[in-house]
Amino acid sequence: MARGADCSGGRSGLNAELQEPVIEVDGLRKRYGDVVAVDGIGFAVRRGEIFGLLGPNGAGKTTTVEILEGLRKPDAGTVRVLGIDAARAPERIKERIGVQLQTVSLYPFLTVTEVLDLFRSFYRHSMPTAWLLEAVELGERRDAQTRHLSGGQRQRLSVALALVNDPELVFLDEPTTGMDPQARRSLWSLVQRLREQGTTVLLTTHYMEEAEQLCDRVAVMDHGHVLELGTVDELVSRRFRERAVHFETLPELDLRELGDLAGVKRAVVEDGQTVLYTADVGATIGALLARTEALGLEPRNLGIRRATLEDVFLDLTGHALRE
Ligand SMILES: Nc1ncnc2c1ncn2[C@@H]1O[C@H](COP(=O)(O)OP(=O)(O)OP(=O)(O)O)[C@@H](O)[C@H]1O
Ligand SMILES: [Mg+2]
Repeated sequence: MARGADCSGGRSGLNAELQEPVIEVDGLRKRYGDVVAVDGIGFAVRRGEIFGLLGPNGAGKTTTVEILEGLRKPDAGTVRVLGIDAARAPERIKERIGVQLQTVSLYPFLTVTEVLDLFRSFYRHSMPTAWLLEAVELGERRDAQTRHLSGGQRQRLSVALALVNDPELVFLDEPTTGMDPQARRSLWSLVQRLREQGTTVLLTTHYMEEAEQLCDRVAVMDHGHVLELGTVDELVSRRFRERAVHFETLPELDLRELGDLAGVKRAVVEDGQTVLYTADVGATIGALLARTEALGLEPRNLGIRRATLEDVFLDLTGHALRE
């Protein structure tokens, strides 16, 4: 709104608060015995953005999030959440954040409405139950005991529980795991609505599409490290000017030889697909078809696409991020 007024004189306190990162992580480390779960990471989340931690199983996402939520103590590093040291004073952030845990045990014999009302009673300020039911589309199941909910419904209830206290910052740990595509899209639109209201969202995911569709910025994590950070467009264009020409792998074609075809910058094989990253799609496809024809072959399911986050991940880690 009035942010442009900054130039006329010093920043107002409100503006300063708006510009201060909502989350600041620096040099964060956590190990469990011999396992280094988080190995010196840093990032900052701005007010009002949807920030994604993207990474495979065991990357350290949940550990990071639980430290930010004040549920775990770090071994080293600093974590400031809403300007507060989350490791030292977790009780001071509790009222202001919403937490959806990756593994939830809900009270099995309480109904959806009863669980929501129970959680609402923990806070001074809370959202109306009807709003919460509507937000996660659980109105029809309001009187069902939670043990009778499907996996996806349970997941949605856990998201509603994260919103009970109308938090300014919400943590969602793999919120759409186990949801069908329709429920997933509906959760994405809920998260977008939260952003429109000015809520900051930090979510973890291993779905590329979720990160691409939903997140303003993404930190790619693997083995306790943040490998890259930025908008999806930045991550893709930082690495790939090229297009990807892909087809079902032909065992007769040598990967090194493919790498030498016209225009090709890099050739990789992943999950039965050969991917040629090329600066010149026409020349590469021409050369590929000439080569396969000479061998009496034809590439199946030949296609062209822009590089995606999946390609970024593959390039960064040497392995794919798939279910
Ligand atoms: N309580 C614990 N005790 C011992 N090791 C743990 C504990 N929690 C996590 N780990 C280990 O720490 C590493 C990071 O785990 P974490 O749960 O943070 O990963 P994640 O990115 O959330 O994975 P996922 O996608 O499977 O949820 C893993 O190697 C895991 O086995
Ligand atoms: Mg996890």
